[in-house]
Amino acid sequence: MLKFNSLLLLLPLLAGCPPAGDTASTDTGVCSSGTEWTGGNEESPNMNPGQDCIACHSSGEGPDFTIAGTVMGDYADPDDCNGVEGMLVRITDADGVLIELTSNAAGNFYSTKDIAMPYTAEVEGTDGVIAAMSAEQTTGACGSCHTADGAEGAPGRVVEP
Ligand code: HEC
Ligand code: HEC
Repeated sequence: MLKFNSLLLLLPLLAGCPPAGDTASTDTGVCSSGTEWTGGNEESPNMNPGQDCIACHSSGEGPDFTIAGTVMGDYADPDDCNGVEGMLVRITDADGVLIELTSNAAGNFYSTKDIAMPYTAEVEGTDGVIAAMSAEQTTGACGSCHTADGAEGAPGRVVEP
């Protein structure tokens, strides 16, 4: 009887487990933010920071983004590290149309608005310091180049200026 009762007591504890999609602390030194996404591919605006959002989303999964990526704390932050919130990402398309996006709690930013290619991009920090990409780009998949190692000549992540 005692055993049965303790099992019943355990049930509410199990139900109280944090839902997937929450962020958990990583080992010190792995992510500059100290926290990472642990929700796998669960749909969320905070999902998979640093990954190539559009590569996945363009295969029929999730919203159809024209621009998507993550502002991180360090050029070499690995995939899934939470980035920096409150960074202003400014995209100017070939017609001069300006799209301003603010990075969320995971550092993620995204838009489904149509943009005329090529575009230019810059990031403004909360202190007003701006980092601009000198090259124009023809894909809004920031994460395809801004990997931890830096693909296509990128210096690594899109980072807080
Ligand atoms: C491995 C594949 C994959 C990657 C990488 C990925 N996503 Fe998703 N995303 C999904 C799927 C699957 C869904 C849910 C689709 C559905 O149910 O319609 C989704 C849904 C979303 C949603 C909608 C959430 C909601 O609550 O409605 C947002 C916003 C989103 N993703 C943002 C991003 C961003 C930003 C990135 C990159 C930093 C990203 N995703 C990377 C697969 C991915
Ligand atoms: C096809 C590859 C590619 C894509 C896509 C790309 N970038 Fe870049 N980015 C680069 C390269 C290469 C550099 C370094 C040379 C330069 O500034 O043009 C760079 C540099 C930058 C810089 C300046 C970096 C620094 O620390 O000074 C910022 C900011 C930036 N990119 C933001 C973005 C954003 C935001 C997106 C998505 C909207 C994006 N990039 C998409 C390749 C890319």
